[in-house]
Amino acid sequence: MHRILILNGPNLNMLGTREPDIYGHDTLEDINALCLEKARELGCKIDFRQSNHEGELIEWVQEADGIFDALIINAAAYTHSSIAIHDALKMLGMPVIEVHLSDPKKREKFRHVSYIEPIASAVIAGEGAQGYTQALEKACELITS
Ligand code: DQA
Repeated sequence: MHRILILNGPNLNMLGTREPDIYGHDTLEDINALCLEKARELGCKIDFRQSNHEGELIEWVQEADGIFDALIINAAAYTHSSIAIHDALKMLGMPVIEVHLSDPKKREKFRHVSYIEPIASAVIAGEGAQGYTQALEKACELITS
């Protein structure tokens, strides 16, 4: 059974009330539930986590090798700033999928740079909560290919 780690960065714990016009009304718990349902359908196992701390996200990435087969990450604002997360992801021997609820490329200029994109096998942005289930489908596809 494929094992997929799903990491969420800062402020995503506030989804539901955080700028719903941009991020929608789903809470992170709702998105976790959507992912669990999709994982059941795809026959894979997921571990869904969130942290507001860059170092914790990095430790989770470092520990992923040998335990998971693919990693899905919404690094939130760290997407646009964290060379440290980029470096940690670069060491991983598994497909990495970058996901965003909104499409950062269509927003403020400071969101146009992504330090995750250069190491990502796929990027899914602007699809709202469904972007996570699309990322899961993509992850399974990449693991088996
Ligand atoms: C986000 C986009 C980022 O620019 C922002 O900092 C977030 C959320 C998204 O899912 O659309 O926190 O990653």
